[in-house]
Amino acid sequence: MVNIAVMGHGVVGSGVVEVILSHKEGVLRHAHEELNIKYVLDLKEFPDSPVADRFTKNFEDIIRDDSVQIVVEVMGGLNPAFDFVKRCLTAGKSVVTSNKELVAAKGAELLAVAKEHNANFMFEASVGGGIPIIRPIYQCLAANNVLEIAGILNGTTNFILTKMIDDHMSFQDALALAQKLGYAERNPSADVDGHDACRKICILAALAFGKHVYPEQVHTEGISNLTLADVAYANAWGGEIKLIGNVKMMDNGQIQIIVCPMLVPNSNLMANIDDVFNGIMVRGDATDEVLFYGKGAGKLPTASAVVADVIDCMKHVDARKYLFWEDNTDPDYVQNYLDNPVAMYVRVRVSDVEAERIRGLFGSINWLACDEAEEGELAFVTPKMAEREIRSKLAQLEEQGAEVKTTVRIADFS
Ligand code: HSE
Repeated sequence: MVNIAVMGHGVVGSGVVEVILSHKEGVLRHAHEELNIKYVLDLKEFPDSPVADRFTKNFEDIIRDDSVQIVVEVMGGLNPAFDFVKRCLTAGKSVVTSNKELVAAKGAELLAVAKEHNANFMFEASVGGGIPIIRPIYQCLAANNVLEIAGILNGTTNFILTKMIDDHMSFQDALALAQKLGYAERNPSADVDGHDACRKICILAALAFGKHVYPEQVHTEGISNLTLADVAYANAWGGEIKLIGNVKMMDNGQIQIIVCPMLVPNSNLMANIDDVFNGIMVRGDATDEVLFYGKGAGKLPTASAVVADVIDCMKHVDARKYLFWEDNTDPDYVQNYLDNPVAMYVRVRVSDVEAERIRGLFGSINWLACDEAEEGELAFVTPKMAEREIRSKLAQLEEQGAEVKTTVRIADFS
């Protein structure tokens, strides 16, 4: 029998307990051992839980108990999660987490601690909820050089965008529903402002390319500036606006990495990924594109990924899984996003500025029209050029009295 502790009994933690209790036979079949939840760590009381007798408020109970071999961290946030996880790994206990903030900020350090103490540190649930993506990248696609990853990585924002577009729900109502369904972060600004997707693309980039990428190195924009007019223009262009995390390896060893809303053409499968679903495209040099799709948030999909990692740890109690990347302090590893070549959708309030002036600045442009267009506004798509050049031309327009309302990059992935 393998004893585990579950740290945190929120949406994901309670899901982990539920999945373990309702899949006892399946766990036994896969791991050839019984799994016993010995402790659940939480400051709140849960008298109705089927494991109510295992609750503790004291982490020391877990760290001191040598019979606990695997610890599940589903508390979220950096503190005290980082300290607890590091102490568990140092004590030789394997750790499974769904905490993307922790992995994105401290992954390299915790993987090194795990290696030093012959323990496993696993985090399949940290990206894509119930979608298998971590193990496929480091295991199934290991024979590839990964060239690019692009994904809808945040269920909450994809849910909000879908509700706004399909059901004409307001942003606030859609967010409230996402919170009620257990999709959103404790502070939903992490979803809406793109930080959650940023953490996830950092984790995928580190896995794919072997070097830690810190969220602070990634230009990140959220969805809160988008309006229904932008959505209508996107339809007129022939696509959908999606919050995308994108990383590309360049020939010079630098990476381009960004998180922002992108205009995705309807011909791309990613444009048709709606609701809380995530989609992640990995392009390898041998496989070409591989697409992963499934529920990216929610109690049971996320718990499924956590418990699968627990089973993997049970099967590798004395053997380390080779899951590793190095720390990286090279400030030039990430190319400045302003140097990325990009085409851009622009919605601009023109006042005295003539359309001819815009054409003169950008050259050949694609004008967009839609029924929702407001008086005095123009929308267009620029040709592809360094983003710095586009920003400079838009600044010139603003100097002449125009007001740039929205800019959305055109997706440039297969
Ligand atoms: N808030 C996250 C999301 C949860 O909406 O994707 C899953 O990581």
